[in-house]
Amino acid sequence: MGWTKPEGAFAAALERQTQGRLALLVAIEESTYFGHCKVVWRSAYPGFRECGIPEIQDLNVRPDCRQRGIGSALLDAAEGRIAEHSDFAGIGFGLYADYGAAQRLYVKRGYLPDGRGLHYGAEPAAAGESYRVDDNLVLYLLKRL
Ligand SMILES: CC(C)(COP(=O)(O)OP(=O)(O)OC[C@H]1O[C@@H](n2cnc3c(N)ncnc32)[C@H](O)[C@@H]1OP(=O)(O)O)[C@@H](O)C(=O)NCCC(=O)NCCS
Repeated sequence: MGWTKPEGAFAAALERQTQGRLALLVAIEESTYFGHCKVVWRSAYPGFRECGIPEIQDLNVRPDCRQRGIGSALLDAAEGRIAEHSDFAGIGFGLYADYGAAQRLYVKRGYLPDGRGLHYGAEPAAAGESYRVDDNLVLYLLKRL
């Protein structure tokens, strides 16, 4: 993937899917894996959870298969699943360059910042404070479906 996944990450996702907590969407052709994303029905982010907005997480496409529309197809599928339950889909991206493609992709698809500012994990980032630029520093966005 270019990013390390902890061992057992997919088994854990399947277990959570069995419990009805998420939907794991996988892009495959025959037996070849191209990418995946998750729809988390009850987000850990209060801005989504309090409004009952499902969150798309963990969108990843194999580095050798990018820019062929697979990420867009996964988002189409995720938004379709969410639309059965909610008028809005939520998503978040990190702020450093590794997320650059995702930043452009989400904005292009009509996702807008949710208006609550930056968060570090689930906590709002306060003006004047210092935060490490890592995967926890996130801007959350919404799309009306
Ligand atoms: C983000 C990601 C899933 C996109 O997957 P993909 O299959 O390449 O996406 P698509 O082919 O559907 O691209 C759709 C749009 O995304 C944007 N995009 C994709 N790759 C891009 C790149 N390298 N640079 C800039 N924009 C890019 C473009 O707007 C593109 O539209 P265009 O082809 O009309 O210009 C993929 O780059 C990835 O796995 N990145 C690493 C993981 C990641 O950041 N995940 C998101 C977590 S929030």
